Amino acid sequence: MACDPAIGARTAHGFGGHYEWAHPLALSVMQTELSPYGEASSHPSPVSRMMAEFAGTFRDGVDINLGVGYVNEQTIPVAALIEALQGVVDCPEKYRQAFNYGSPAGSANLIASIKRFLLTQRAGQLDAATLARLQLSIGACGATSILDALTDVLPPGIVVTSDPMYYIYTESLLRKGFEVLAVPEDEEGIDLVVLARKLEALGSEARRISFFYTVTVNNPSCTLLSNRRRRALLDVATEISRRQGRQIPIFYDLAYELLLHDPAAEPFVSVLPSDEVGIAYEIGTLSKVLAPSLRIGYLLGPAGPLMSAMIQSTSDTGFSAPLFVQEMASYLLDNCIAAQLMWVNADYRAKAVAVLEGIREYLGPYLQECRGGRAGFYFYLTLKDVETCPGSDFFRFLMRTTGDAELDGATGQRNPSVIYIPGEYCVHPQGDLAERGKRQLRLSYAFEPVPRILQALELMRAAVDYSRK
Ligand SMILES: Cc1ncc(COP(=O)(O)O)c(C=O)c1O
Repeated sequence: MACDPAIGARTAHGFGGHYEWAHPLALSVMQTELSPYGEASSHPSPVSRMMAEFAGTFRDGVDINLGVGYVNEQTIPVAALIEALQGVVDCPEKYRQAFNYGSPAGSANLIASIKRFLLTQRAGQLDAATLARLQLSIGACGATSILDALTDVLPPGIVVTSDPMYYIYTESLLRKGFEVLAVPEDEEGIDLVVLARKLEALGSEARRISFFYTVTVNNPSCTLLSNRRRRALLDVATEISRRQGRQIPIFYDLAYELLLHDPAAEPFVSVLPSDEVGIAYEIGTLSKVLAPSLRIGYLLGPAGPLMSAMIQSTSDTGFSAPLFVQEMASYLLDNCIAAQLMWVNADYRAKAVAVLEGIREYLGPYLQECRGGRAGFYFYLTLKDVETCPGSDFFRFLMRTTGDAELDGATGQRNPSVIYIPGEYCVHPQGDLAERGKRQLRLSYAFEPVPRILQALELMRAAVDYSRK
């Protein structure tokens, strides 16, 4: 086949220089050069591998998945979604060119709807004057795209977060060349004493702190970041910013905040009104209370270069979140959200109570600690003396890979398997919780119905017995 020498000359050795064409067969075994991020991303993370392997053999109605972060399908308001789409189509004067490109800051309708929503549904937590002062922008694809964009617009460096960590994000931070300073949490969130000690130990390296990141209902532990702790964290970030003469941003990830279903819990209060130096941002999402597939997330914080860069990054990623979906979300917030929030929270509350009873019944004597169940949809368990990590007896029992046919089931008729997220994947591998993480696990009570979760807990009890033999 004839090649165009001009192209070959340009790509191989510059204009007019000597060049050689690699044989197509030789090319096929060569590797494409990747960036450090591309290289790190070309191997799936251990947890992705585990989930993919499990998904490959998962049997609906037989195996039990307590590992996925999926929401409860029953809480997705399908009829309201259809109504919202029709509502958008029926009102082109309000929802203008809804099937065309959108603007990178987000739909004006949706931004107004979220602000109204925050003022009514988070009344007393965020005041109108603060909201008016701040800028709100819609991410390209959920809160995840906002978290991802932070790694493009902020300088690589140290990210201070809690341990256990939101492993999906911290894993991607590491691939992007960031370092993670994971600070163990207590029952109110990041432990301030340990945080102070770790910051002190950084010495001059503290100049490399890129940002603070905290999840207000932590994933995986569902620990509620108390109001005084979220304020204290802002004070810490403010103090370091003052000392270093630069603004170090702090991001509060509110992913599960609208799922505060324990009526005894103190309502959350935003720190944004107290942010004197303009470093605090909130990242919200509609995924957990409406539908993850809407992919609507927002960033709320001070207008300025960081916010502008984030908006540009949305444009670079895909111009904007799909406009008709933004308009649908606006419609849903304006018309259906109050009832939806009540329904979703009632559903998770009932499940949390039933599952907690099951945890006590089946695992009670073997538990060192049980977190969660007040907001969001995870429990995070620490077993006293049984390891949960991949390769452990507990894990192999539940994955049915012990090698004992009686426990695993006959070939082609494997006994029911249970998947969970091992704590080992959630804690910093070199952090203070590395050892403890080996006895921890996250279980989700969102996706599976209660009877199946109870069945899984009974199997976990059998796995504990097997491990302790
Ligand atoms: C802590 C946390 N932040 C963000 C997200 C992602 O939200 P979104 O669906 O809006 O991308 C999740 C999803 O599970 C999460 O757990």
